[in-house]
Amino acid sequence: MWTKENLQDLIRDKLGDYLFIVVSNREPYEHVFHRGKIVCRRSAGGLVTALDPVMQACHGLWIAAASADADHKVTDASGKVMVPEENPSYTLKRIWLTKEEEEQYYYGFSNEALWPLCHMVFQRPEFRQEDWDCYAQVNRKFANAILEEIGDRKAFIWIQDYHLCLLPKYLKEMAPNQLILAQFWHIPWPNYEAFRICPQRREILDGLLANDLLGFHIRYHCHNFLDVIDRELESKIDREKFSVTRAEHETLIRPYPISIDFQGIDQDVNSPPVVNAHKNLIDEFDLAGKKVILGIDRMDYTKGIPERILAIDQMLEQHPELKEKVVFLQKGVLSRLHLAQYKDLNDRVQASVEQVNWKHSTTKWKPIILVKRHMTQEEIIALYRLCDVCVVSSLHDGMNLVAKEFIASRHDEDGCLVLSHFTGSARELPDAVLINPYDRVEFGNGIYKALTMNDAERKKRMVKMRAAISSNNIFRWAAKVISELLKFEFKEQVVAL
Ligand code: G6P
Repeated sequence: MWTKENLQDLIRDKLGDYLFIVVSNREPYEHVFHRGKIVCRRSAGGLVTALDPVMQACHGLWIAAASADADHKVTDASGKVMVPEENPSYTLKRIWLTKEEEEQYYYGFSNEALWPLCHMVFQRPEFRQEDWDCYAQVNRKFANAILEEIGDRKAFIWIQDYHLCLLPKYLKEMAPNQLILAQFWHIPWPNYEAFRICPQRREILDGLLANDLLGFHIRYHCHNFLDVIDRELESKIDREKFSVTRAEHETLIRPYPISIDFQGIDQDVNSPPVVNAHKNLIDEFDLAGKKVILGIDRMDYTKGIPERILAIDQMLEQHPELKEKVVFLQKGVLSRLHLAQYKDLNDRVQASVEQVNWKHSTTKWKPIILVKRHMTQEEIIALYRLCDVCVVSSLHDGMNLVAKEFIASRHDEDGCLVLSHFTGSARELPDAVLINPYDRVEFGNGIYKALTMNDAERKKRMVKMRAAISSNNIFRWAAKVISELLKFEFKEQVVAL
């Protein structure tokens, strides 16, 4: 079993004089003004959930774009601050983007072009030349900031996600001999028919192929990537070795199903702050004596939140005997609100909750509670721990770590997971109640099945799911990537996993 300590040993013993640097757009912690004080909060989303424990173990450097109003107040002259606040263990270096860069690089090309391009949810991507130009400019800004940091030292650079497709190419051009580069793609990689509409597809592929190692969640995404390369670029594809060689540079393509700090969450479940939060949440939302169905998501159109509300409606139509006995609590973290599609989604979800509540409510009960306030990590774990059923209904999702966090939080081996077939995690979790979120009747029946499953069956499934996630935890995931990277420089050091 991989632990935090094994990973620390691997990095200390094997990395030699290489710096270890993670780069992403989203910063792991943001500093915000709250009631006249500066508060440090962990950012939402799968990338941070997965990589923050890794960095807390590795004590490396994480470079990311600043995103909050008090970020500049706590950093030194080179943009650095130690995080997390309560247990400073690694350095965060912030890159400052202008409003225009944020608009065109982050909202524009990253989230209006690449995000819908990679998620099959029938949301049309918008390609604007000026967004692409700015995307390239910001990727270069990241490259300059990284090289400024490294000087003439050697470094392993681990790039995250779809905001930084051109970064590996710029880095290799500017410092060809001192860097080993890996990139992990946190979202799905689409098939060729979908990808070919992107006007900048060749530049994107060329950028990514400057990496020494390129990781996706599942093998299927690796195959999609190789197919796209096959049809778009002159290169040699080795399907045995799973690699692409272009202009004499080889990139390994690998599936690495991302995960969570299972053991860390499992330990926190019975800690005093979580136990307290558990009690307070039951009071705050009047949950005592009711079966609780839970959803926790960034408010994103890929997560299937409107579909989930319709499934609750369907279930209550079919089973009116559940009225006053169940409640569906949806925690929605506001996300990318500046974009019209996200604002529309919020309005739609709000309207749909009101409609379903109106239809089914009684004088002393309403079926859906929508919570938008910020919650601490302890409160989130308490919600996972107190619910009866957790619903993950993404229309398309690279992995989905809410499903895995829920399982890690069930030290009591109770609770049932309803999970969309269209998530990467569904491949590791066949013991969830698997549903198609587009099929309202099947989805409603799936939630009902989870609510009414007998104790023995529920426990049997939870025990199997916990065994699967406990061994494939985030430290194993990180160790697999790092071990593969080590082979590039230290050929004799092959680490057994
Ligand atoms: C997904 C992406 C991440 C992103 C996260 C939150 O998990 O893969 O790259 O950070 O969503 O989205 P945001 O736009 O708020 O960073």
